[in-house]
Amino acid sequence: MLFNIKHILNICTLTFSLSLTSGTFLELNPISGSLSGRVVLPCHFNAFPTTMPIINSTGRTEYLRIKWTRMEGDTESTVLVAQQGKIKIAYSYRKRISIPSHPEDIGDASLTIVKLRASDAGRYRCEIMYGVEDKQDTVSLDVNGVVFHYRANTSRYSMNYDQAVKTCQSIGASIATFAQLKSAYEDGFDHCDAGWTADQTVRYPITKPRAGCYGDKMGKPGVRTYGVRDPKETYDVYCYVDKLEGEVFYAPVNYKMTLEEAKEECKRRNAVLASPGQLHAAWRQGLDRCDYGWLSDGSARYPVSKRKSQCGGGLLGVRTMYRYHNQTGFPSHNLKLGAYCFKVTCLTPLI
Ligand SMILES: *[C@@H]1O[C@H](CO)[C@@H](O)[C@H](O)[C@H]1NC(C)=O
Ligand SMILES: *[C@@H]1O[C@H](CO)[C@@H](O)[C@H](O)[C@H]1NC(C)=O
Ligand SMILES: *[C@@H]1O[C@H](CO)[C@@H](O)[C@H](O)[C@H]1NC(C)=O
Repeated sequence: MLFNIKHILNICTLTFSLSLTSGTFLELNPISGSLSGRVVLPCHFNAFPTTMPIINSTGRTEYLRIKWTRMEGDTESTVLVAQQGKIKIAYSYRKRISIPSHPEDIGDASLTIVKLRASDAGRYRCEIMYGVEDKQDTVSLDVNGVVFHYRANTSRYSMNYDQAVKTCQSIGASIATFAQLKSAYEDGFDHCDAGWTADQTVRYPITKPRAGCYGDKMGKPGVRTYGVRDPKETYDVYCYVDKLEGEVFYAPVNYKMTLEEAKEECKRRNAVLASPGQLHAAWRQGLDRCDYGWLSDGSARYPVSKRKSQCGGGLLGVRTMYRYHNQTGFPSHNLKLGAYCFKVTCLTPLI
C-alpha cells in the first residue's frame, strides 16, 4: 500500500518537472479586489542570470519577453508587453499597471493593477517567452464594490456632511471616497446631482456632458467638483458598498404589500428588508428584477442588470421610485409593492 502511494507521488513529480521545461498552462486561483483598490495578478517563472543571453539558431540574441493578455470570450487583447526594458501598455490601463523592474532577476512578472475599475474584471493570461521556456498562466480577476447616489427621503440637497456620512452607514454602505467615485465614473457612472464624498468635497460624475450638468468642466466629460465645502452646507451623497455578505431576493409572493407588510413578509422568510446598500451590491452581482420593492429605509427600488427597453428605459442600474415629479420624496408607505429581502447565507461556524 505504502509502496503504491510512493509510486504515484513519483509519477506526479516527474510529470510536473517535465511540464515545466516544455511549457506550462496553469489556471491560478481567482483574485478579487475592490473598486479603486489594488491587486497583484501573480506570474512566476524560473529566474535565470541576465549575464547569459540565449543565442538562437539564427545566431541572434533572444531576450525575455513578457506578455499580459486579457481574454473576453473568444477575443484577446494585449494589456502589456515587456522586452529588453521596453514596456508597451494598452491605453485603458495607462498609468494603472506595472510589473517588477527586473523580472528576469527574480522570476516574477506579476501584474500590479491600481485604481481598479469594475470593467477590469475578467480573465488574464501571462506569457513568458525565453528560449525554450514558454509558460502561460491564466488568472481570473473579480472587482467588488459599487458607488451610488443617495437622496434623503425629505428633499433634494438636504444632508450636511455629518448627516451624509451617517446616512450612508444607515443604509448598509459608507460614504464614497473620491477615488471610488472616479473609478465608477471611468466605468460609465453618470449622475447629475451634487453629493458629498469622504474628503468633504462635493462632486458628481458626468460621462455625457449636457446642459445643467456642466459644473466646472463645461462640455468635457469628467467628475465635476465644487471643491471642499463647509460641512454645514447641504447636498445629496455618494455612498459605496463592497461585496455582498449574504443574499438579496425579491419576496416570491403573488400579492403586493405596504411597507409594513413587506417587513413582515421578509421576517416570515427568516430575513429582513434589504438596505439600499445591499440592493446595489446584489445588482452588481447580477440581480435583475423589473418590480419595485420596499427596502429598509422606506424607499422603493428595483435592479436592472440586463438591458431591456420595457424596464428602466434600456438603462442599467438601480431605479428609484420618487413621490414627486422633481425626483424627491419616498413613496407613501401604504403603496402596494413587492419586497427585497436580505438573508445572511454563509454563517461562520462557531469554534
Ligand atoms: C532569433 O531571435 C531573433 C531576435 O530575437 C528573432 O527575431 C528570430 O525570430 C529568432 N529566430 C528563431 C528561429 O527563433
Ligand atoms: C425619513 O427618514 C428619517 C430618517 O431615516 C425617518 O426618521 C423619517 O421617519 C422618514 N420620513 C418619512 C416621511 O419617511
Ligand atoms: C419637489 O416637489 C414637491 C411637491 O410638488 C415640493 O414640495 C418640493 O419643494 C419640490 N422640491 C424641490 C427641491 O424642488
